Amino acid sequence: MRTVLVLGGYGFFGQRISTALASTGSVRVLVGGRDLERASAATRATGLPVENAVALDAHDSHLADVLRRLRVDVLIHTAGPFQGQDCSVARAAIEARCHYIDLADGRQFVAGISSLSTLASAVGLTVISGASSVPALSSAVIDRYSPRFRRLEAIRIGISSGARAPGLATVRGVFSYGGKRIRSWQDGAWVDAYGWLNLSRHQFPPPLGKRWLGSCDVPDLELFPKRYPTVRTVSFQAGFASDLGHFVVWGLAGLVKAGVLTDMNAFASPLNRFSRWMEPIVSDKGGMFVTLEGEGADGAPLRIDWNLIAEKNHGPHIPCGAAIALARKIGSGASLPRGAMPCMGLLTVDEFLEPLRELNMSERVA
Ligand SMILES: NC(=O)c1ccc[n+]([C@@H]2O[C@H](COP(=O)([O-])OP(=O)(O)OC[C@H]3O[C@@H](n4cnc5c(N)ncnc54)[C@H](OP(=O)(O)O)[C@@H]3O)[C@@H](O)[C@H]2O)c1
Repeated sequence: MRTVLVLGGYGFFGQRISTALASTGSVRVLVGGRDLERASAATRATGLPVENAVALDAHDSHLADVLRRLRVDVLIHTAGPFQGQDCSVARAAIEARCHYIDLADGRQFVAGISSLSTLASAVGLTVISGASSVPALSSAVIDRYSPRFRRLEAIRIGISSGARAPGLATVRGVFSYGGKRIRSWQDGAWVDAYGWLNLSRHQFPPPLGKRWLGSCDVPDLELFPKRYPTVRTVSFQAGFASDLGHFVVWGLAGLVKAGVLTDMNAFASPLNRFSRWMEPIVSDKGGMFVTLEGEGADGAPLRIDWNLIAEKNHGPHIPCGAAIALARKIGSGASLPRGAMPCMGLLTVDEFLEPLRELNMSERVA
């Protein structure tokens, strides 16, 4: 039996991951965070023994010793925000000889994980960053459909959330670049977009309908132009189920861009609380799309629209699929590539969605 420690294991996504892994026979789950009471409450809620709750700080300089003492085989790191975080948790995992998986959505963080590859390979470990919606699911969708293209030219990705607000780490992460410059690959050149600006309206399949979206800074913008060398455009946008909520974030980002505010950080916690109060009157439906454009195998223009639609507020389970699937793979003794890498090419779409199959979500492809 492999011991999996979920760091941030009682957080918004961490708790969902801990719960899913608690019912996996091949792993023993430890729930970690800085607050032992919250960790203990989470173990009770998931039916785990209370001894499986662990108080620890991700940024403790003795983290490697703690991991060794707990005999951790796999560390799942959800204690974001990852924007501005260094790789010290992954380094501690390597030092303690345990595999490492994180949910990072920080562009530099995920792209930079490869710098640990030699270190991880030397001791036979797997270090994976971005095991979540981006870039794990987005790249899996592209890998599924790219063989249909003779030449893939454009990748457009977007996510619109449902009512259920994520945890504070997610909000702090996505607010960190509000109104700030984002480098993106458009028509074969690097151009500037601005976080949560560049407002557009996107038509999702029913029952979602039209949603507002704004530009976001994600690992995909850095990684995909290299991974798919024929592409001339890679874009990523996100938005909220509530139009009001979206316009508040858009307005704050505009104030940052205009120089009136330095950043949006101070608004993360109050707006996160406000969105929880708003939950009962906001749509419980969310979705993700990946649109691919280019030249098909026959030379004719080809466009594929992949959508994942979640209802009944089940959307927040989606970012957890990769970490659950990868931990289960390691738990079952399956071999993963050694080294440190962004989470691309490690899971198919079906493998990513397998842990979520009981939930209310469906793929639509046109
Ligand atoms: N790549 C993607 O597609 C994607 C999608 C969604 C979310 N995410 C990422 O998922 C991460 C988690 O989001 P969330 O919504 O679950 O956030 P959350 O609810 O705020 O959870 C964060 C957890 O980490 C713990 N934590 C924070 N600092 C810690 C530290 N120094 N040491 C130990 N534990 C610490 C927190 O507990 P304590 O504060 O009590 O310690 C909490 O349990 C975010 O950073 C977000 O970027 C990525």
